[in-house]
Amino acid sequence: MNAFVMFVAAIALVPAPREQAWRDGACNFAEKDVRFVRDAALPPEGYRLDIAPDGVTVASADDAGAFYARKTLKQLGTNAVPCGTVTDAPAFRWRGFMLDEGRHFFGKETVKSLLDLMADHKLNVFHWHLTEDQGWRLAIDRFPELVQYGAVRPESPVHGCTGRPNDYRGNGQVYGPYFYTAADVREILAYAKERFITVVPEVEVPGHARALLAAHPEFACREGLPRVPRTMNGIEDEVLCAGNDEAIRFMEQVYDEVCALFPGTYVHIGGDECPKKRWKECPKCQARIKALGLNDEDALQAWVTRHFTDYLAKKGRRTVGWDEILAGNPGLETVVHNWRKPEYGIEAAEKGHDVVVSALGATYFSVSQGVKEDPFTYLSPKRRCSLAAAYAFDPHAGMTEAAKRHVLGAECCMWSECTWNEYDLAFKLWPRACAFAEAVWTAPAAPRDFADFSQRMAVHRLRLISEGVNCAPLE
Ligand code: ACM
Ligand code: ZN
Repeated sequence: MNAFVMFVAAIALVPAPREQAWRDGACNFAEKDVRFVRDAALPPEGYRLDIAPDGVTVASADDAGAFYARKTLKQLGTNAVPCGTVTDAPAFRWRGFMLDEGRHFFGKETVKSLLDLMADHKLNVFHWHLTEDQGWRLAIDRFPELVQYGAVRPESPVHGCTGRPNDYRGNGQVYGPYFYTAADVREILAYAKERFITVVPEVEVPGHARALLAAHPEFACREGLPRVPRTMNGIEDEVLCAGNDEAIRFMEQVYDEVCALFPGTYVHIGGDECPKKRWKECPKCQARIKALGLNDEDALQAWVTRHFTDYLAKKGRRTVGWDEILAGNPGLETVVHNWRKPEYGIEAAEKGHDVVVSALGATYFSVSQGVKEDPFTYLSPKRRCSLAAAYAFDPHAGMTEAAKRHVLGAECCMWSECTWNEYDLAFKLWPRACAFAEAVWTAPAAPRDFADFSQRMAVHRLRLISEGVNCAPLE
């Protein structure tokens, strides 16, 4: 390598831009030397960066493009930056990160630092998973019991155990109350907006509802539930009673407040992992099935999904649901969030649903990345999601051209059953989230060179570490 090539190799942009062309010469510049101009011909969120000896020009069609140009400049630094041009635009418009705050709560400051890191990697959708069996994290004015009972649990699994029913040891320490007030949410929304990040709240119906039922046991299928959230990990049998009109009305009122708080188009209603055991035994649920002429409990879940999709549509919102909802043939206006096999995402897109793609083996960063020195705990210790798998992720894989047009984008997910704090979370998230960012920003199908990414990542990892991020080693 000659000196110039080595110099350029050290540029190490992550995610890589679409096109970059470097030439001899270098530029030292200060923020004030950067000139911003509008060019309506550039794509949304895209930008063109011209670095010349006498200064830097950023062209973009919108403010988001100028913002992302600044993020690229941040990685280039201001001293002896090579002269050249970068022409860039995202491959996908939904570049998401999901944070589960139900199992463990991270709080405002961690969320803000995650939003900063998202922005640095040009990610633009924060999917905020706020309700779970183990905790309800959003204060709802009309129903104060939701956080009074739902945001605190008697204990959590001890460090080091998976916390599943067959491997549960409780730590005996009260956890919470931990939740976000409306003022907290507004603060986070403002912070996200400044960074061109849309926040999609997730409030689950009808499963993952044990913390809700701690607050409102009258909305369970059977009487006498203790007024505490679930402490074990794993899937809970107690779900919202779909035969109880008051339970349905209650959820409508919860969504009224969710919509009042969150201005974005999309509301995620969950819909995953809803066992039908209680519905099968419940006279109210069975009466609903009979009254509506439904075939079975799966059809009852389809009715619930349709009910809330229609309810939210009247408020101008689009629902997103995990891919289990596909079984009930939801309306095509419902966005399907693929997470199980890719086949469900393909099926949804071929039917004509807009799709957001996640994948257990490629974007679930709560799964072990398989590095040798890893002090942290995982819910399924044998599962793997390597950095290479994260880098190879292609939201379009296996799709026809027509289906590809329905892919809004993708999300990486951080489930927090076995993730306790920001330090633990960061190790699991980075560097895989960098690989994910490149998969959704740079290249849907372009050949990707993992060796090249790894070289850039070695430089970029030092940037993250210098910012205090507990980035895992590259192996
Ligand atoms: C999920 O991982 N249960 C969506
Ligand atoms: Zn019921």
